[in-house]
Amino acid sequence: MISHHTNTEQGHWVLAKMGKRVLRPGGRELTAKLIDALDIKRSDDVVEFAPGMGFTAALTLKRQPKTYTGIELDETAAANLKTTISGDDRKIINTSASETTLDGNSVDKVYGEAMLTMQADHRKSEIIGEAFRILKKGGLYGIHELGLAPDNISAETKADIQRELAQTIKVNARPLTEKEWSDLLEKEGFSIVKIEKNPMSLLEPSRVINDEGFFRALGIVFNIATHPKERRRIMTMRRTFRKFSKNLNAVAIIAKKN
Ligand SMILES: C[S@@+](CC[C@H](N)C(=O)[O-])C[C@H]1O[C@@H](n2cnc3c(N)ncnc32)[C@H](O)[C@@H]1O
Repeated sequence: MISHHTNTEQGHWVLAKMGKRVLRPGGRELTAKLIDALDIKRSDDVVEFAPGMGFTAALTLKRQPKTYTGIELDETAAANLKTTISGDDRKIINTSASETTLDGNSVDKVYGEAMLTMQADHRKSEIIGEAFRILKKGGLYGIHELGLAPDNISAETKADIQRELAQTIKVNARPLTEKEWSDLLEKEGFSIVKIEKNPMSLLEPSRVINDEGFFRALGIVFNIATHPKERRRIMTMRRTFRKFSKNLNAVAIIAKKN
């Protein structure tokens, strides 16, 4: 098994420490579209890559799939998930989505959010290839990731964005254009079924209220106001997201193993 200790410097863990549970770029709204499009049923064996704080896991479990397996690399996050997700046919494996340890052709639906963006390109392909391997023929793979726009974005702007994201989120985030995400999925054997998009508004007040609910959002604002170090980090992240708002979006893609 491969597992990592939490790097508390990374932007998503700073946000989680402040109480944020929704850590994906298109928010709850795009997640709902992803889960709907995956059409998770009671007869499905479902695998989630990188459940993180377990927000989408809860939505999936409401649909009572036959089995649910979360593959989470971070040791602390995996241990926390194990305390909230348990019972027959529900399990969390603390390993990398590139080596799930699951059998080939064994599951109906696989999805992962805000976890491919942070991988180098060869690792993105390994993870997509692993989703393809474990899915049964006809199975669906859903991703929800950070996107770049337009498709013909200049190499210079792309490099600027990657550099600033690395500096501010402290994660080597490498977002791709809608076409590049689609090409990567197709290269591993998938065909594209559906694409949905949303603006990248992770840290905008209206999105935070929509994602977390009014009272939880108030708590987050209080936590940020009383933690100066985290406040500085979060404001810098928001400045970067705003600076590149024309070139950043959130993209969800449903792909099929034919
Ligand atoms: C930005 S958070 C997103 C969490 C959650 N999916 C969400 O959207 O709220 C990134 C998550 O991906 C996990 N992760 C990163 N690389 C991974 C890998 N190779 N395999 C499994 N999980 C991974 C991290 O531990 C973290 O929980």
